[in-house]
Formats: sequence, C-alpha cells, structure tokens
Amino acid sequence: MRCQDMVCVVTGGGEGIGRAICRALALEGGHVAVWDVDRVAAEAVAEELRKSGRRAEALEVDVSRWDEVKAATRQVLAWFGRIDVLVNNAGICQVVSIEQTEEEDWDRVMAVNLKGVFLCSKAVMPSMKERRSGKIINMGSIAGKIGGILTGAHYSASKAAVMCFTKSLARELAPYNVQVNAIAPGVIETNMTRMITKGDWGPYLSMIPLGRIGSVEDVATVAVFLASRESDYITGEIIDVNGGQWMD
Ligand SMILES: NC(=O)c1ccc[n+]([C@@H]2O[C@H](COP(=O)([O-])OP(=O)(O)OC[C@H]3O[C@@H](n4cnc5c(N)ncnc54)[C@H](O)[C@@H]3O)[C@@H](O)[C@H]2O)c1
Repeated sequence: MRCQDMVCVVTGGGEGIGRAICRALALEGGHVAVWDVDRVAAEAVAEELRKSGRRAEALEVDVSRWDEVKAATRQVLAWFGRIDVLVNNAGICQVVSIEQTEEEDWDRVMAVNLKGVFLCSKAVMPSMKERRSGKIINMGSIAGKIGGILTGAHYSASKAAVMCFTKSLARELAPYNVQVNAIAPGVIETNMTRMITKGDWGPYLSMIPLGRIGSVEDVATVAVFLASRESDYITGEIIDVNGGQWMD
C-alpha cells in the first residue's frame, strides 16, 4: 500500500482523470476528499470509495472561489485532521480561435485552471508546512508545452502557467519537506477530449509513437507515484504522460 492512510484532496475528482486518481489513491490505501463543482458526481465517487472500505467525503467546491476553497480546506482538516496530498486536477477547456475568444472565456479558463491551482495550494500549504510533510500534484498539459493543437490558446497558456507555478511552489515549499510536481498528459480519453474529437481519434493516433490514446489510469498511476514516498526526492518536476507525442 503506497498511500496507506494518506489523506488526499482531489479537485475535479468527480469525473475523468480526477475520478481515476481518486480510485487509484484509495486502492493504495489513501483516504480521499473528492472536490468538484458537480456535487452529484463527487458524491458518487465518494460513495464508491467508501464501499471499498476507505474513508471518503465529497464536497461541492468551485476551485476558482477563495471562500469555497477555504471553507472546504477547513472542513477536510476538521474531518481528517490533516492533508497529506493535494491533487490540483480540476480544469476546463474550450476549442476556440484566439480571435473568437471572448474576454469572459479567457477569464473563466484562467480562473479555474490557473487561479484554482494557486488558491487550493495556498489553502493547504500552511498545514503541510506546519507538519513538514506533504505532496502537491498539479495537472499541466502537453498543450502548455507546445501550444494547443485543438484547444484554445487561453487553455494552453493556463497550463504553461500551471507548470511554471509548480516550480515556484516547489522552491518555496522545499525547505518544509513538501514536494510539488506536475503531470503533463497528452491525449487522454475523457469527456473533455470526447467533446473535442467527437470520437474521431485518427488524427491524434498518427502523432503518438506508442500508437494509442492514453487512458485515465495511465495518468492516475503517475499521480500515485508522486503522492507516495517513492517520489520523496523529486520536486519541481513535470512528468509527461503522452505516449511519446512530445519528448523533451
Ligand atoms: N483529457 C485530456 O486529454 C487532458 C490532457 C491534458 C490535461 N488534462 C487536464 O486534466 C484535468 C482533468 O481533465 P479531464 O479530461 O479529466 O476533464 P473532465 O472534463 O472529464 O473532468 C473535469 C472535472 O473537473 C470538474 N470541474 C470543472 N470545473 C471545476 C471547478 N471550477 N471546480 C471544481 N471542479 C471543477 C468537472 O466537474 C469534472 O468533474 C484538467 O485539468 C485537464 O485540463 C486533460
């Protein structure tokens, strides 16, 4: 059990990659607080984890709202007594040209994808610093490295910023033995990408040396590694999970 009794917060845990991370952490012995704007989805995941014998709680949280993030952090600390792992996974995506991007679209994508990572990290870091222990895992993207192939420029820019924020936060928290890393997934099959591709994966497959689209489990196993003690000497790192689509 690589995450035995660790208390883990997973944002956007109700669906897709976040849900797979919740399941994988629980399978390794972790207790999970599932945060999502979609209360029903979060509840369903928490219920599933409880059935498997773990402690799990769902909270309706919009990560772009400081009042909600602060209250949810307080609630998790009251329930579980500590937070060992924060997975900043919640994100939204739009497929739109720069010219067609409205100011409010730009602001919303930045608020969820970038400000959300900042707010959730800010909320949990005091308790991690105090205990001199913790792991923060941020969800970047291949789009933040090479520019979005189909996703909007605001999405790519937000993910580039998340990956840079990861390094700043890693430096700031290193003296407190808190490791901060990011994952940069390529094309992973979820509702987000199904919405973009409408089920036609052909154009992507030709770009991926490993010859298949990624699964949510491909990302979740890396999140478990970054949550576990196996990654104790890794911080400020961005791990590509992209089937070789981009190598740097
Ligand atoms: N799917 C991919 O190919 C891919 C590739 C690279 C990066 N990512 C990133 O991985 C993360 C998860 O993506 P996914 O494909 O699983 O998406 P998804 O749309 O399937 O799931 C996202 C989850 O986040 C929740 N969410 C959205 N806005 C929120 C908010 N403001 N506060 C809290 N929760 C919120 C949604 O309700 C949903 O449950 C995102 O950050 C995404 O940008 C995905």
